[in-house]
Amino acid sequence: NYHFYHSLGSSNDTAKHLAREGATEGTVVLAEEQNAGKGRLGRPWHSPAGLGLYFSLIIRPSIPLALAPQVTLLTAVSICKTLEKLDLEPTIKWPNDVLLEGKKVCGILTELSAEMDGIKYLIIGIGINVNHRLQDFPDSVAHKATSINIVSGQEIDRVLFLNKLLITLEEDYRHWLEQDFSPFRQEWLQRAAGLGEKVRVLTGTVEWTGRLEGIDDMGALLLRNEAGELQHLMSGEVTLRPE
Ligand code: BTN
Repeated sequence: NYHFYHSLGSSNDTAKHLAREGATEGTVVLAEEQNAGKGRLGRPWHSPAGLGLYFSLIIRPSIPLALAPQVTLLTAVSICKTLEKLDLEPTIKWPNDVLLEGKKVCGILTELSAEMDGIKYLIIGIGINVNHRLQDFPDSVAHKATSINIVSGQEIDRVLFLNKLLITLEEDYRHWLEQDFSPFRQEWLQRAAGLGEKVRVLTGTVEWTGRLEGIDDMGALLLRNEAGELQHLMSGEVTLRPE
C-alpha cells in the first residue's frame, strides 16, 4: 500500500493522519521532498528533492508498549544490511543513527499511538542521505553528515535501494514478531559504534559518562560508570569520543 507525494510537510505526519483513518499495516508514505521534515529531539530534517529517501511506514504490532523501542533498533539493523549489500560498512550510534565512516547517513524517527490495551499504530520515519554531495547539506550538519553517494563514489538508484530495504525490513519485522529481539540484539551489537569506548549520554538535562557496554534485552543502552555500576538508559543522545 504505497502513497507517493511530490512534496509533503512531514511524511510522519501524513502517515499518522492515514493511520488514524485506518491505513493498514505495511502502508508506505514516501515524499520526494519535505518542507517540514522532523528529526529526533525537535530538530529539523533537511529533505531536498531528488537526493534522498524520506518515507514513513505504518505498522500495527500486537506487542506491549515497552517493546516499541526495539522496532527502531531493528529498523537500523535492516538499513545496515541493505547498505552492506553495496559493500559499505555501516555502524549504528544508539539508538538508531546509521553512520558511514563515522558520519550520519540515516536517521529514524519513530512515533506511536497507544491506548490502555496496547499499541494502536507505530510510525517509523526514515530519512536516508542517498545522492547528496557535501554542498547539499546545511552548514550546521555538513561536518557530521554523509551520503551513500559520497562514501561509495557512485550515483545510487533510489527506487532500487528503497525496494531492497523494504524487502529486508519486512523479513526482519516478521522474524521479530515470530521470535523475539535476541537475534536482532546480536546483529545490532555487531554494528554498534563506540562499543567498549568511553561515551557521553545526554538524557534531557542530565549528562552521563561511562563505557558503552551494549544494549540489554529491551534495547536500553548499557553504560558502565566510573563507580563500576551498570546503568540502563532508555533514551538520550550519545556523543562518541567525548573530550
Ligand atoms: C533523526 O533525527 O535522526 C531522525 C530523522 C528522521 C527523518 C525522517 S525523513 C522521513 C520521516 N518524516 C519526517 O518528518 N521525519 C522522518
